[in-house]
Formats: sequence, structure tokens, C-alpha cells
Amino acid sequence: MATERQITAAVVDPGLLSLPWDVPLVDWPSDVLAALPRGISRHIVRFVRTTTGLVAVKEIGDSVAHGEYDMLRTLDRLGAPAVQPLAVVSGRTSVDGEPLSSALVTRHLAYTLPYRALFSQHMRPEILTRLIDALAVLLVRLHLLGFFWGDVSLSNTLFRRDAGAFTAYLVDAETGELHPPLSDHKRSYDLDLARTNIIGELMDLQAGEIAPAEVDTIAVGDQIVERYETLWTELTRRESFSAGELWRVEERMNRLNKLGFDVDEIDITTDISGTTVSIQPKVVDAGHFNRQVMRLTGLDVQENQGRRMLNDLEQYRVRTGQHGDDLSMVAHEWLSDVFEPTVRAVPVELRRKLEPAEIFHEVLEHRWYISQDQQRDVPMAEAVASYVREVLAHRRDERRLLDADDPGRDSPSASAPPVR
Ligand SMILES: Nc1ncnc2c1ncn2[C@@H]1O[C@H](COP(=O)(O)OP(=O)(O)OP(=O)(O)O)[C@@H](O)[C@H]1O
Ligand SMILES: [Mg+2]
Repeated sequence: MATERQITAAVVDPGLLSLPWDVPLVDWPSDVLAALPRGISRHIVRFVRTTTGLVAVKEIGDSVAHGEYDMLRTLDRLGAPAVQPLAVVSGRTSVDGEPLSSALVTRHLAYTLPYRALFSQHMRPEILTRLIDALAVLLVRLHLLGFFWGDVSLSNTLFRRDAGAFTAYLVDAETGELHPPLSDHKRSYDLDLARTNIIGELMDLQAGEIAPAEVDTIAVGDQIVERYETLWTELTRRESFSAGELWRVEERMNRLNKLGFDVDEIDITTDISGTTVSIQPKVVDAGHFNRQVMRLTGLDVQENQGRRMLNDLEQYRVRTGQHGDDLSMVAHEWLSDVFEPTVRAVPVELRRKLEPAEIFHEVLEHRWYISQDQQRDVPMAEAVASYVREVLAHRRDERRLLDADDPGRDSPSASAPPVR
């Protein structure tokens, strides 16, 4: 007797009900399929357009399907970068009553590409470096949640390149287990496997003439280990400070920037042992900060200016308790509460000499030096006053000197004197 078909889902997507579940996935008609690049896998995976969006369907044993579905739901709840599970379809039978494998349905992750597809485009060497960094971020984030992947590889990862940011997502959670806090032994198992798999996968791509022969596969494998360790050490650094030492947050953000990672979000928690900060890292490509600042504030800034501005915006968001709020709203407030008053605090005749974004950038830099020197938070008003006095005034003198040397000269020197 044929078993009853069952759909396990938090909310059943009506678009799933009309799919041809009584046909083996390999034989699904092309009119329901979406031809999108897929990674390599043991199981059959197809992308399907439903009335409510694009989904990935994977045929797999029933208990494994349920296990992976549950694990992906847990990861989703924990906020991990992973594909989102939609349903498990079990008890499938063909029209002749033959049993068919169960199917795990996940939402297709928009704008993501499997690494093979990324490689088949022309890939600059620095892009490969950023992809490896993105994978290091993913692995560190999963490990911080206590997730042991057990099958780290490029083909179990999806890469998204969006507005200059690179994000890696877990796509295959079949072997995953949660053991918080994750032991060093389990972490190094995952990391060793990542290294071995990446080397193997890149060698395969070279053999298939997809990846350029000059890519040093061993070096790339070593790179994942090195970047992971760097990031893990930085993010797990235990540090408690008091509420009056928020400059330490900036110190950590700067340190992460120096290591070549950027800050996505910061989270500050305070309890009896003091205030602790956790930082969500991200990986970006050249031009990201300019675009992001332009989108949020309409200002056209240089990369380093934009990075500093966004770091300050993120600190503002946390300081004002707007965690989780829409960043464009927060950016609007930040512009009128922080950015504009800072620029306006600079006397008009000096203001004309520099772009507002450069003034702001230099004030932040100046504030940072004072904070570091004096190991304390420096209010913005104090920082601007000091900047005008110590930096701009000096620059004016410098200009006068230059003018005296060379009366024909009319452009001020652009280089800021050291502030310390
Ligand atoms: N939700 C999704 N969005 C985008 N692509 C997906 C999604 N789910 C699966 N894929 C694609 O299908 C490929 C295979 O999926 P998956 O790794 O889960 O299969 P598998 O057979 O379990 O793999 P393995 O051989 O590692 O066991 C992935 O590499 C990815 O390219
Ligand atoms: Mg896989």
C-alpha cells in the first residue's frame, strides 16, 4: 500500500503543493525548473520556481532530510549565515506506486554563486583572497555558535557578492552538530578538513582548466587556516571594560580593520563583570564603503573616510540603543546628531579648505589618538575643539609658511601633521 505523502514545514508554502512530487527529481519537466548554476553534489539537486519564489529541492533519505531540516532551522534561529529550510516532503511514491526518496526544500539564496561558477568567470587573484576570507568568517561565526560542520568545503558553501561585500553561507548541514562551546579539537578538525578540501577542489578546477594553473593551491589552503586563526584569536579575545571606556570598542574595530576584516555589527552587553563587546566581522571589496555611505547619506566619500564613518555610525547605533533598527533611519539621525554638528563646529574659514567628509574623518582620527593616549572616551565636542586648535591651526601656520616661501602658491598642504 502506498504511504501517505507528508509535508513537514513551519508554514507550508502553497507553491510547493503543486510540484510533481510523484516524479523522480531527475525527470522533472523543464518548465518547472530554473536553470541556475549548481555546485557539485552526491545527491540530486534542482532549482524550482514556485508561485512564492525560487527554491532548491534535494532528494535525500528521509531521516537525513529531517535531520538537515532541523539543523538548518536551528542555524536560522541562531542567525547563522546558512540557507533557509522550507520543508521536507516524505512518503513520496511514483504513479506506479514505487517509493521515491524524500526531498529537502530550501529557499534559493539570491545572488549567491557556487565557487565553480565564480571561477568560470574571470577571477582576479584578490577576489580569491576575499572568498577565502569570507569562508574564514563563516567558519568562525559557526564555531562561535558551537556548530561543528563536519564537511567544510567550497562546494558546501555559497558565495554572495553584493554591493562590494563578500558573504559565505553554509549550504549543506547534513553532517553538522551543535556542541556549544565547541572544543578546540572539533574546531581544528573542521579547519583541517577545510584546508584539505579546498586544496582538492582547486586542483580539480585546475585539472578541468577552470582555475588558472598559476593558482598556488597549497598556499590557498594554508591561507584559510591562517585567516581563520587570526580572526578567531581577535574575536574571542576576552576583554571587559567599564561604561566610560567605549573607546575600547573603537580600538577593537580598528584592530579588525588592520587585520583586513571589516565590521558588520557590534553588540555591547553589560553585566556585573563589566561591559563586553562582540563584533560581527565581514569581508568587503574595494569601493564598498563609498557605495554604502552614498546609499545611506548621499555623501560621496573616499574608501578610508567611508570606513571610518560607518564604524562611527555603528558605534552610534549601539550607543543610542538602536540595535536591529533600519540602518538608513539610524544614518539619517547620525547625520544630524553627529556628522553635521561636528563639521559645523569647525570655523567657516577653515571649513572651506577641506571637504566635510575629510574634516569629519580627521576629527575622528584625532579623537582616536587622544583616546588611545589618555585611555579614555573623548566627547565629540572636545575632539573637534582640540582638532581645530591642534591640527587646523597648525595647518594654517604651515600654509602661511609656504606662502611666505612661495608667494605664488595658493593650495594648502593636504597632509595632516601627526597629532600625538
Ligand atoms: N538553497 C540553495 N540555494 C542555492 N543553491 C543551493 C541551495 N541548496 C543547494 N544548492 C546548490 O546545490 C549544491 C548541492 O547541495 P548540497 O551540498 O546540499 O548537496 P549534497 O548532495 O548533500 O552535497 P554533498 O555531496 O556535499 O553531500 C550546492 O553546492 C549548491 O550549489
Ligand atoms: Mg554538499
